[in-house]
Amino acid sequence: MSHEEDLIDYSDDELAGNDAAPAQVESVSNGASKKGDAAAASGDAKKGSYVGIHATSFRDFLLKPELLRAITDCGFEHPSDVQQKCIPQAILGQDVLCQAKSGLGKTAVFVLVSLQQIEPVPGECSVLVMCHTRELAYQIRNEYNRFSKYIPDIKTSVFYGGTPMAKDVEILSSKDTHPHVIVGTPGRLNALVRAKELRLANVKVFVLDECDKMLEQIDMRRDVQDIFRATPTAKQVMFFSATLSPEIIPVCKKFMQNPLEIITNDMTKLTLHGLQQYYIKLNEGEKNRKLNDLLDSLEFNQVIIFVKSTARATELDKILRECNFPSVAVHSGVSQEERIKRYKEFKEFKTRICVATDVFGRGIDIERINLAINYDLPTDAASYLHRVGRAGRFGTKGLSISFVGNEDDQKMLAEIEKKFEVAMPEFPEGGIEASTYMNE
Ligand SMILES: Nc1ncnc2c1ncn2[C@@H]1O[C@H](COP(=O)(O)OP(=O)(O)OP(=O)(O)O)[C@@H](O)[C@H]1O
Ligand SMILES: [Mg+2]
Repeated sequence: MSHEEDLIDYSDDELAGNDAAPAQVESVSNGASKKGDAAAASGDAKKGSYVGIHATSFRDFLLKPELLRAITDCGFEHPSDVQQKCIPQAILGQDVLCQAKSGLGKTAVFVLVSLQQIEPVPGECSVLVMCHTRELAYQIRNEYNRFSKYIPDIKTSVFYGGTPMAKDVEILSSKDTHPHVIVGTPGRLNALVRAKELRLANVKVFVLDECDKMLEQIDMRRDVQDIFRATPTAKQVMFFSATLSPEIIPVCKKFMQNPLEIITNDMTKLTLHGLQQYYIKLNEGEKNRKLNDLLDSLEFNQVIIFVKSTARATELDKILRECNFPSVAVHSGVSQEERIKRYKEFKEFKTRICVATDVFGRGIDIERINLAINYDLPTDAASYLHRVGRAGRFGTKGLSISFVGNEDDQKMLAEIEKKFEVAMPEFPEGGIEASTYMNE
């Protein structure tokens, strides 16, 4: 339930106050991650090794047997720290504001919680999930498909821009195809609402993934607010991100009532312990040569290389191909259909090198990425954290290398080190031992 009247007009004082009655403020780190750390340090961290201190089982959450079966099929052995903290209360319908580090299973929290509660009614959308990019929406929809495998009555659709709206309208126009779960990006969803093609009067669960990003961008926030207002007052609201700045927390809370708050004030707890982070100091003109050397000398399963613009992504992708490094580029200059195609190819391990802008900087989950390179350093510390979090997911090992060129980069590097309290050493001349960042 929410204070909708507060949302109608965001004024300059929107960030002030309004954070009465915080429910519970918890830290995300507990014995579970400590055990994970130990495993990482001893070099035997592998997927699914994040065993909680009480070794809780998914069975303890009293989920539907259909969901438990799907969880087993996914190979999940134990719930992660964030899953243990959120799921038991969230399945009772409480609002949730959750910050937890990258790659530790925030998606499964809202997917399982919503699927547990949903009672599919033909022609009605009960669950609405929004995120900031189309590929992430596509990925989340696939997670819904994975977990609802044994509940065939539940239909899920994904709607985002860059595709013909008529297709979405057609899906929504028949009770036989109308989804119960809708995942999408706010622009397209709002267009569908305004066109009265999408009715949200029956929404019971409202989710924002990467919520800080969605609410920091003013256009996106406006769309989110419009959509939110089209949903009923009585509903469950759940917001997630690895980063929640002190400024954005009260904005998030305006959408919620008495939420379960899982907020990490201690930024060091956001560090991924399986991930080694280095920088390399060089001039702009030396970047290509260095990248070439690294791709030649380093062992990796899949690598993601971040650049700051679409033009640079296209250019670098071309150069890499010319140097016999088969890469794909993903950025907003590529047609939507092609973007999804490239996402799929990369996810399915058909390509090993991806050059991307920040469209792949958050949320994207590619299991085999164990090397993330910042060819261009991002311009804010939060983006850095999200980007390097593409490697070393779910307690696995990984490596990140950031190119530090001009003075601005050096300032950024210092800010990142300070904010997350990580000491980021210079990448050693002779490289590093592959076993320290390669998962066996
Ligand atoms: N309990 C679990 N056991 C094993 N693997 C899990 C478990 N929960 C999630 N995973 C896997 O961990 C990976 C990361 O999960 P997810 O993408 O949800 O992370 P996230 O917290 O949303 O990260 P980000 O902040 O980067 O978006 C996924 O491949 C997911 O399938
Ligand atoms: Mg995520």
